Amino acid sequence: MSQALIDQARKVMDGNDRGSYTVPTHGLYPFQWNWDSALSALGFSHYDIDRAWVEIETLMAHQWADGMVPHIIFHEPDDGYFPGPDVWGTNRVVPTTGITQPAVAGFALRKIFDRSEDKVLARRRLANLLPKIHAWHKWFYKHRDPEASGLVAIIHPWESGRDNSVDWDEALEGVPMEGVASFTRRDTTHANPDHRPTDEQYRRYIWLVQTFRRLGWDNAKLHDASPFRLVDPGFNAILIRSCDDVAELAELIGDPDMALEARAMAAKGRAAMESLWNPKLGQYTCYNRAAGILQDTPTVGGILAAFAQVPTARAEALVARINLLSQRCVYLVPSHDPADSSFDSRRYWRGPSWLIVNYMIADGLILAGQEAMAQRLLADSMRLIEKSGFAEYYDPISGEPCGGGDFTWTAAMVIEILKVQKVPA
Ligand code: DGY
Repeated sequence: MSQALIDQARKVMDGNDRGSYTVPTHGLYPFQWNWDSALSALGFSHYDIDRAWVEIETLMAHQWADGMVPHIIFHEPDDGYFPGPDVWGTNRVVPTTGITQPAVAGFALRKIFDRSEDKVLARRRLANLLPKIHAWHKWFYKHRDPEASGLVAIIHPWESGRDNSVDWDEALEGVPMEGVASFTRRDTTHANPDHRPTDEQYRRYIWLVQTFRRLGWDNAKLHDASPFRLVDPGFNAILIRSCDDVAELAELIGDPDMALEARAMAAKGRAAMESLWNPKLGQYTCYNRAAGILQDTPTVGGILAAFAQVPTARAEALVARINLLSQRCVYLVPSHDPADSSFDSRRYWRGPSWLIVNYMIADGLILAGQEAMAQRLLADSMRLIEKSGFAEYYDPISGEPCGGGDFTWTAAMVIEILKVQKVPA
């Protein structure tokens, strides 16, 4: 059974492989996405280690001079996606967007290095990639944490990867819609509009893009100029975890200065995460930096914080929180609490369960000694695959597939889970 699923997952990945990068899925997302690529490389690492390295190498080849790694690289023109390069106007030879995404590449790189048999070659490739990833992490703390709090802010919902989460609702209301040029969405021609963000959200997303473009994509200006500045626990946890991994890898390639810097960033970030603990909910929650408010939005962003290997008491509380959610849905972990009035079981990040999120939460829980809950999340992930195939995300109550189909990172997670976690399928 496991091998049959792995074969199917490989077929999905191969169908989305464009040689030196993967697209998340044909049609809906026809380019290279930053965190999709990094997590998809984990799938490759089990059957084609060279291809896993290439995925990250292609991503990092498009890093900006200031250290930022863009959220989309528009390798080939494709009219089937909006907003394309003409909207972003970043003036690069190979066009990219001007914002970033969760920094999971450092975490993926460590796994790829560990799984490489030819360590001489792997060290050579690592020596090329590691300084780039470290520079990206430093970019985050310089440009997205100008007051050196230890926590970085996102300045656009798309940076979080959790585009239409309830976490952003209040802050997005403060983002104007006036002056946004008229546009035609393409996503709703590829996926059910009921599974996607609303038109109003899209207008506000585009207002932010137009505003940043007017500022010349100058990262020295964007953070303070953005009315949308949110500190997301999940996003910070991913960055902290990647800093840990960069530190370990830097030791391996004999760069103690890099290791020291990476450890210092991770330690400061971890200490600061405590300020996002929300005792009312028993989980971490988002901090609206522009408004100075710790929110009460019960989303999976605050549970994904487990990925940063949180203190034992926090991990225990997160397990209790997931247990509570399990009484409100059938397939863990819903991206929004089903008991909350904003829950929408099929609409992207306002309810559905995602395999990549389950995988990262489980990974963090294992580090914190919470093996039983970790196994439960992985088992639920496999139940979703068996019921509904390799979808983008799933209704956490019915288990129905939502969003795009034949999804690369979902397939990659299946390979990763079956090969590494040995969940019975
Ligand atoms: C989209 O187009 O829906 C993407 O999530 C933006 O990154």
